[in-house]
Amino acid sequence: MRSFEFHNPTRILFGRGVTEKCGDVVSGIGRKALLVTGGGSVKRSGYYDRVKRTLEAADVAVIDLQGVKSNPVLSKVVEGISLAKEGEVDVVVALGGGSVMDTGKAVAAGALMDDGYVWQVFEGKRTIQKALPVVTIPSLAASGSEMNGYMVITNESSGYKLATGSPHLYPRVSLLDPEITFTVPSDYTAYGGVDAVCHLMEPYFNGPDPVTPVSDRIAEGLMISIMEATEQAISAPLDFEARAALMWGATLALNGLTKAGVGEHHFPVHMIEHSVSALFDVPHGAGLAALLPGWLRWYASEVGPAKVIQFGNRVFQAGGEGEEGVGRAMNALEAWLRKIGAPASLSELGIGREDLDRIADNSQFQAGVWGLKEELSRGRVMSVLEAAF
Ligand code: NZQ
Ligand code: ZN
Repeated sequence: MRSFEFHNPTRILFGRGVTEKCGDVVSGIGRKALLVTGGGSVKRSGYYDRVKRTLEAADVAVIDLQGVKSNPVLSKVVEGISLAKEGEVDVVVALGGGSVMDTGKAVAAGALMDDGYVWQVFEGKRTIQKALPVVTIPSLAASGSEMNGYMVITNESSGYKLATGSPHLYPRVSLLDPEITFTVPSDYTAYGGVDAVCHLMEPYFNGPDPVTPVSDRIAEGLMISIMEATEQAISAPLDFEARAALMWGATLALNGLTKAGVGEHHFPVHMIEHSVSALFDVPHGAGLAALLPGWLRWYASEVGPAKVIQFGNRVFQAGGEGEEGVGRAMNALEAWLRKIGAPASLSELGIGREDLDRIADNSQFQAGVWGLKEELSRGRVMSVLEAAF
């Protein structure tokens, strides 16, 4: 196990009806809130009205930033920064999925920059020194943004979707009410499950230390819980326990817990997927699903089969050693993806062979920002893409 520091400052309130506490929670932080929402799902489900009512009852003034799209874009962040500055907002409340939460974080950081030019942070040209406090109410179990310091935004002018992070971006408080996810349709429920599983797989496979028994077991346990809960939530969308397990599992999957001790590692599947969703605007979890089997095949042959066999045996009870063990692990992963209705290859996602070059080219910008031009070189990315086609 490698040395690490683990500090997660986000306060979590979890349970049925916890959104009702929004006004009390936010009024302890600020008096003027920017309320960030997406394309309308929380209006249709009634949660927007409920949250707004609790804020107003607690004497918190509300300015709306609505219409955040999935795979959120920089122009919406810029709009939010103007609103926040003009309205002298002192807290950001993000009510929605990862796209809404990430937009809220980017606005929170940009609102305290003199020029508001937050994109330079994504390009690695400056760092965040401070940000407005953020409160999140996730409406979809997937990104883990509710308990981490990351954000992912697409610059629609340059065509890059980039991820960055800062300790200043951890939400101050997150309200996790599993019932808010009852309305998430089966496709996005599946994509959310895949995203959370992939957040666990990246440090599990890409850490440099071969002896990480605690983080391995935590990750394997969470993967199993998330997979079971995803299947259950798809077949019974109003099953509170399934939605609760999926929500808490997804939060724990990317809050720093499972990467503690595994050493410096990168997120190759995520890096490549961000280029896929930047170029083709596919849901993040669908892009990950399309890449994962190919990437795992590439990993077994280029890095080694041992961890893939461990994954197959412990997560899927797939059995087998050597070549056979790898094959069984691959089959089990693909079978799970198909069972929940997710694509298991790039071609199933509608991407053509002629598109692979563009994806590989696009990925190199993020690889450069992260200083990983060798580890995640264009050639390696191309090999993964070929394996995933
Ligand atoms: O926009 P609305 O109308 O709300 O509809 C959304 C959207 O169409 C819908 N939805 C959300 N909650 C719902 C609901 N529909 C019915 N009922 C509800 N309760 O779901 C669709 C997808 O929403 P989105 O926010 O895009 O999904 P997700 O939570 O998967 O977030 C994806 C974004 O997060 C980034 C991804 O790259 C992507 O841009 N990520 C952020 C991370 C982070 N900050 O730590 C890490 C992740 O790896 C990920 O990269
Ligand atoms: Zn993800």
